[in-house]
Amino acid sequence: MGRSYFTPLSLISAFLFLISFAAANSKPLVLNEFFQCLSSHSQSSIPITNSLYTKTNSSYSTILESTIDNLRCYSPTTIKPLLIITPMEESHIQAAIYCSKTYGLQLRVRSGGHDYEGLSFVADSPFLMLDMTHFRQIDVNIEENSAWVQAGAILGELYYKIAEKSKIHGFSAGLCPTIGVGGHFSGGGFGPMVRKYGVAADHIVDVRMINSKGRILTRASMGENLFWAIRGGGGASFGVIIAYKINLVPVPPTVSVFSVSKTLEQGASKVLYRYQEVVDKFPEDLFIRVSILPTTNQSGNKTMLVAFNSLFLGSAKDHLSLIQTSFPELGVQSKDCKEMSWIQSVLFFAGYTNGESIDTLLDRTPQFKGYFKAKSDFVKAPIPESGLEGLWKILLEGDNSLMFFLPFGGKMNEIPESAIPFPHRKGNIYNIQYVARWTEQENPQAEKHIAWIRNLYDYMAPYVSKNPRASYLNYRDLDLGQNGNTKTNYSQALIWGSKYFKNNFYQLVRVKTRVDPGNFFRNEQSIPPFKMEVEDFLVN
Ligand SMILES: Cc1cc2nc3c(=O)[nH]c(=O)nc-3n(C[C@H](O)[C@H](O)[C@H](O)COP(=O)(O)OP(=O)(O)OC[C@H]3O[C@@H](n4cnc5c(N)ncnc54)[C@H](O)[C@@H]3O)c2cc1C
Ligand SMILES: *[C@@H]1O[C@H](CO)[C@@H](O)[C@H](O)[C@H]1NC(C)=O
Ligand SMILES: *[C@@H]1O[C@H](CO)[C@@H](O)[C@H](O)[C@H]1NC(C)=O
Ligand SMILES: *[C@@H]1O[C@H](CO)[C@@H](O)[C@H](O)[C@H]1NC(C)=O
Ligand SMILES: *[C@@H]1O[C@H](CO)[C@@H](O)[C@H](O)[C@H]1NC(C)=O
Repeated sequence: MGRSYFTPLSLISAFLFLISFAAANSKPLVLNEFFQCLSSHSQSSIPITNSLYTKTNSSYSTILESTIDNLRCYSPTTIKPLLIITPMEESHIQAAIYCSKTYGLQLRVRSGGHDYEGLSFVADSPFLMLDMTHFRQIDVNIEENSAWVQAGAILGELYYKIAEKSKIHGFSAGLCPTIGVGGHFSGGGFGPMVRKYGVAADHIVDVRMINSKGRILTRASMGENLFWAIRGGGGASFGVIIAYKINLVPVPPTVSVFSVSKTLEQGASKVLYRYQEVVDKFPEDLFIRVSILPTTNQSGNKTMLVAFNSLFLGSAKDHLSLIQTSFPELGVQSKDCKEMSWIQSVLFFAGYTNGESIDTLLDRTPQFKGYFKAKSDFVKAPIPESGLEGLWKILLEGDNSLMFFLPFGGKMNEIPESAIPFPHRKGNIYNIQYVARWTEQENPQAEKHIAWIRNLYDYMAPYVSKNPRASYLNYRDLDLGQNGNTKTNYSQALIWGSKYFKNNFYQLVRVKTRVDPGNFFRNEQSIPPFKMEVEDFLVN
């Protein structure tokens, strides 16, 4: 990899001198005083007072609930923010950072609200939520092949704005249009063009963010180490991302798609086995994603449906001939392949297949709002058919399960693991996402569904990546371990840290230690700064 990393042990000795970080003396919270702090530290033309929502404000719940995607993380008993701030200007964010620090409050930042564990809107101690909803300007510059996109914009808005200006430019990021840029880009971000162009974070060329001292930083002023860290290491550990500058990617004026499904009785196992042998080796213009979901067959029996959704960055004719030569088992016919513009293919992959207008992409209402628990894996060798048979058994026992296979290979094999913190590159055939879903009525039995998905995850262990069993940060999973509220257990952080970042974790810890040694920006799975306390040293 050409980069030398600290081992945990040398990290420990290297940072031993940083021993004393006594918690800053924080003031007791008196809300009026706190408001005064905010006002006096945000000298701007728009008063911050119009952006503050306390629990007694009638709009508080509406704003809080507006972008929550996973309702499992939002119950009457979850701790709600003391105050929601919807900043209109950068100085509002600077004031929020300064005053939270002064009063010893946590600050959680929310862009699209799609965090799988709700870490952008739930915390384990008194906190403020900064909702980036007013920061969603998008400036597309076709001549420069670039765009500045603010953190609170959603992917759908970005795709729409690019397509509005050009039919031959696009961007490589996730499928769900209501995901926020702030969380998605800083954790990686992959979708239908990942095999051709890599992840969203691979295309970030500049940033505007505010650090724990309230300073506004850009790539030039933050230095390359911090700039590296926020492209895959998660934004929440390092500051408040205001905007990213990205390079656009070329797309042909016409692309083609198909969707073909097989039930178990129609031979889904054999086709899916074959899929695993070919999908990462296809030319990088071809991307076939698999969705696995329960369905009822014609005789009323429950079975699994395996749906293959394909994008080819070229004509239907070439798409078809490629599939018929290298994956004939799928049985794709010419009537299945449809030609369209790239932006229409975005709608197709978002599940809008009934002629919806592309304006649908501007709808910020979370598309899949519901109760769920998700987990992820990476697969490096085809799962044998016997393994798939066991998988069907577990899925058929589950009530409302969902699985996605998203193929890698292509460009992903060429990018070094340490290029950015997102490390899942060469040798991965595809990424798996597991989802257990349930309704509000079923929510009292949430534990049953969570136990089911944990069992599924255990079952899959022999078939997926090992040492570490890798996971994707953006499919956040607190089962992998979490930081304590006041103290970090480093041996535990190393476990989830290696799953999300592999060896890049050590470099992330180094950057964090340098830019936020007091750990102001933190959550249950934020990068810990290395601060060894004497008692830890003695215990270990
Ligand atoms: C229905 C659905 C579909 C998805 N599909 C895909 C997909 O196709 N591909 C894929 O790669 N991922 C996908 N994801 C995962 C998605 O990428 C992550 O959940 C992502 O982190 C969401 O970003 P957000 O801004 O919406 O979330 P938020 O909940 O707002 O934030 C997520 C995390 O980032 C932090 N954060 C947010 N904004 C900022 C900011 N401005 N500055 C600093 N920190 C910030 C938050 O504090 C939190 O820790 C999907 C998620 C859902 C719910
Ligand atoms: C709620 O907060 C907003 C923003 O601060 C303010 O404009 C509004 O008047 C408040 N509403 C109530 C009922 O207090
Ligand atoms: C499901 O299939 C079995 C045979 O495999 C049959 O006995 C049963 O009646 C079917 N159930 C339904 C609901 O059709
Ligand atoms: C439906 O599923 C049942 C149980 O798997 C199977 O026995 C039956 O043949 C299926 N019927 C059809 C029409 O596929
Ligand atoms: C830290 O985490 C490790 C690994 O999960 C665990 O074995 C250990 O008991 C934890 N230590 C403390 C002090 O909680």
